[in-house]
Amino acid sequence: MKITVVGAGNVGATCADVLAHRDAAHEIVLVDIKPGIAEGKALDIWQSAPIDRFNAKTIGVTNNYLATANSTVVVITSGLPRKPGMSRDDLIETNAVIVKGVTDQVIQYSPCAIIIVVSNPLDAMTYQAYITSRFPRTRVMGMAGILDTGRYKAFIADELNVSPKDISALLLGGHGDTMVPLPRYTTVSGIPLTEMLPKERIDAIVERTRFGGGELVKLMGTSAWYAPGSSAARMAEAITRNHRRVFPCCVKLEGEYGLENVFVGVPVVLGKNGIESIIELKLTDEELVQLHESAKAVKEMMDVLDKLEEKNR
Ligand code: LAC
Repeated sequence: MKITVVGAGNVGATCADVLAHRDAAHEIVLVDIKPGIAEGKALDIWQSAPIDRFNAKTIGVTNNYLATANSTVVVITSGLPRKPGMSRDDLIETNAVIVKGVTDQVIQYSPCAIIIVVSNPLDAMTYQAYITSRFPRTRVMGMAGILDTGRYKAFIADELNVSPKDISALLLGGHGDTMVPLPRYTTVSGIPLTEMLPKERIDAIVERTRFGGGELVKLMGTSAWYAPGSSAARMAEAITRNHRRVFPCCVKLEGEYGLENVFVGVPVVLGKNGIESIIELKLTDEELVQLHESAKAVKEMMDVLDKLEEKNR
């Protein structure tokens, strides 16, 4: 099995590194447009194989999609990252062109691949890959929920001074300020979070999670990569190993949650066919309103893409 990671920037390289270290496929191909960068990073990862003891052959190529042929999973990380003061949505026009071009190349050589999009604005870029690939919705998804729940769980672990391993949580909606963390579905080793923390503390954590990406952009001058790269790798691995993991992922809804033709994060089962199923939770009225609001914000971005597509036709 082969996994391709397109974009050898910080997120793509981290994703390839995690995939290789976990032996998630026998071959990991890293692609970039800048000559030498993917080759160099892949070689560096490969040289850690004897040290960290893994087998996954990691290779890097410059814009050579032939090397990606017949990939089981393709992770698309290409595009510009955020700079301080930018929202993810500010990247839409530039990154749409990039994601479209990459998707076109990917599908030419891997017509049966499952595509995981990481580029921002995430939900809109997942839609872009979907319309360009014309793949079924089960084979085009976006990575955001694992990252956003990761941040949420890390903040809870800090607050309670317990292991992050013991936090289980769920989050819905788009990868933006309108995301919907669900304290009702958050537990600490089975104990409801709502029994362990007062509402104000939970609200503060939810708020920090919503702006968790921005917090890092402010600190570093660019967007995050360790947690985003690991999150995408976990999705790819669930597919190549057919683990049927339950993860929040960005998928196209066709009536689920009362939403039609919009890409937002909901819990899904990930396995060898990609999205094996979508889990529909019973939400409170307030949660449902929040999810629909988040979907509305995504839909506006999808409309921008539709207009761009029309203009370029
Ligand atoms: C973040 C970027 C990757 O949330 O969207 O850090």
